Amino acid sequence: MQHSILILGGTAEARALAGKLAGDPRFAVELSLAGRTRAPAEQPVPVRVGGFGGAEGLAAYLRQKGVSILIDATHPYAARISRNAAQAAEISGVPIVALRRSPWLPQPGDRWTEVESVADAVNALGPDPRKAFLTLGRQELLPFEAAPQHDYLVRSVDPVEPPLTVPNAVYLTERGPFRQADEARLLQDHGIEVIVAKNSGGPASYGKIAAARELGIEVILIRRPELPDVPSVETVEEMLAWLDHAPPPLK
Ligand SMILES: NC(=O)c1ccc[n+]([C@@H]2O[C@H](COP(=O)([O-])OP(=O)(O)OC[C@H]3O[C@@H](n4cnc5c(N)ncnc54)[C@H](OP(=O)(O)O)[C@@H]3O)[C@@H](O)[C@H]2O)c1
Repeated sequence: MQHSILILGGTAEARALAGKLAGDPRFAVELSLAGRTRAPAEQPVPVRVGGFGGAEGLAAYLRQKGVSILIDATHPYAARISRNAAQAAEISGVPIVALRRSPWLPQPGDRWTEVESVADAVNALGPDPRKAFLTLGRQELLPFEAAPQHDYLVRSVDPVEPPLTVPNAVYLTERGPFRQADEARLLQDHGIEVIVAKNSGGPASYGKIAAARELGIEVILIRRPELPDVPSVETVEEMLAWLDHAPPPLK
């Protein structure tokens, strides 16, 4: 019998996993996106878009669609949906497995300052004007308005609208992956002194971290939020192996 899989996505891994499962007769796969990005990348399986209405809403969706495996392949900083997914799995009895990239670890030469929140990152920039490169989602940028003394280079997938109320900000609208050599050139062209980023893990956005090391630039990294304790794997390959051994659906 076929497994009905719901992948909570919004990451490159979710898309890659969907690509591997598409066309496999053992699985019927649907991918769920929050709907944050205006023009999401094309996906290899059917997609649904938008929130479910909390854990209860997601549990109801799982039952209604007869989902037999729930895969949480959301971004490691998307803590709310991961908590909802864990709860919905418990309520509905649907097995859950998370696909979570491991965080980057500091290497010799890295100049990292780890902080708990975006507000702490703003404080860590300090009182004196600096040239800062912000690689955060557009929803997370507002706290930087409290520190208008810095020059900001902001990179996001969608345009930052309205722009920040700070006097000096340049905006780049780009989607990764980003290569180390290109990142190093960008940092140098803009005279960047400090980067503010999340510890996303994975190769697609590591270029800036490696480039910062190469150039001796400080990186303020926002720590990962706490995520629910559910069975999890770190790579698409491990997820495929997990699915190969998954027990058959109950009905
Ligand atoms: N946060 C990041 O840094 C980041 C970076 C790259 C990509 N993303 C992706 O962007 C999406 C949203 O991130 P976020 O930080 O806003 O998440 P979040 O704070 O954990 O979730 C907020 C709400 O958005 C809805 N939602 C989130 N992901 C969803 C999904 N895949 N399918 C359907 N509904 C979803 C849920 O609404 P309901 O409660 O109504 O169900 C959830 O409660 C995630 O899919 C994530 O993988 C996030």
